[in-house]
Amino acid sequence: MTRHFLDLDLVEGQDLRRIIDDARAFKDGALALKPMTGKTLAMIFDKPSTRTRVSFEVAARQLGGDPIVLYSRDMQLGRGETIEDTAKVLSRYVDAIMIRTDEHEKLNQLARYATIPVINGLTDRSHPCQVMADVMTIEQHRGPIRGKKLAWTGDGNNMVTSFIQAAVRFDFELAVACPPELMPEPEVLAWAGERQGRVSVTHDPAVAASDADVVLTDTWVSMGDADAERRHRLLAPFRVDGALMAKARGDAIFLHCLPAHRGEEVTAEVIDGPQSVVFDEAENRLHAQKAILAWCLAS
Ligand code: CP
Ligand code: NVA
Repeated sequence: MTRHFLDLDLVEGQDLRRIIDDARAFKDGALALKPMTGKTLAMIFDKPSTRTRVSFEVAARQLGGDPIVLYSRDMQLGRGETIEDTAKVLSRYVDAIMIRTDEHEKLNQLARYATIPVINGLTDRSHPCQVMADVMTIEQHRGPIRGKKLAWTGDGNNMVTSFIQAAVRFDFELAVACPPELMPEPEVLAWAGERQGRVSVTHDPAVAASDADVVLTDTWVSMGDADAERRHRLLAPFRVDGALMAKARGDAIFLHCLPAHRGEEVTAEVIDGPQSVVFDEAENRLHAQKAILAWCLAS
């Protein structure tokens, strides 16, 4: 069975736990495997990236492999070659594919036709590799995530989809505060509800942040969003500032997947302050990518 890493609802909880533990072991130096020796990772980008691109590229090299970075605009994919044919061709050359794209269905199609592992490096719907690094970061600073309260405030976007799935898989409480116009996907909320996930949605950031162990947010305007002005208007009450952090536990930490916009979704006082762990979070992308690649290639 080809092991794809497409979304956190499609990977068993025990496998996700093992990936987090392996990521920690890679970071600590307890794991020094090179499961990509002689193997190649192709990375396809339909959207810009700093962290995902560099962390996957370095991860592949540190695991003994060779990364290839492809921008879809420079590929025949950008002039109409099908995803199906692209998947079949790349499967003859390389050992795994990571893709960052817009429509989630493009990721699914690539996985359907590839005979090698496909990894979701962000779509309009979800960002599972980032949330794995976030779980790792929370455990690094606050111990086991099980039973903790995480508060999300802002857009009900692709990060939220992956956090809702993670809440079920890792058994933590997730309180989402977002405007009614920018709610998380109903399907993912229903999926969590069917599994007794402890996920709640409010329109009041103070309610979500109350007694939280972790406060989370993200940009107000994701890549591909065309309604920046409307989003700024709707999301202004959801900014993370010192007053909102004061609603959380005294030892609460602040995470943001980055890139950040100081003065918009978060004040400089918070993101550059003592509760912020955003650069540990960015570093952990590297360790998490190594564990994700090792898991995919172990199939
Ligand atoms: N957080 C994240 O995915 O960053 P990049 O867009 O820089 O890859
Ligand atoms: N929600 C953001 C995440 C960036 C890493 C976006 O999709 O642009």
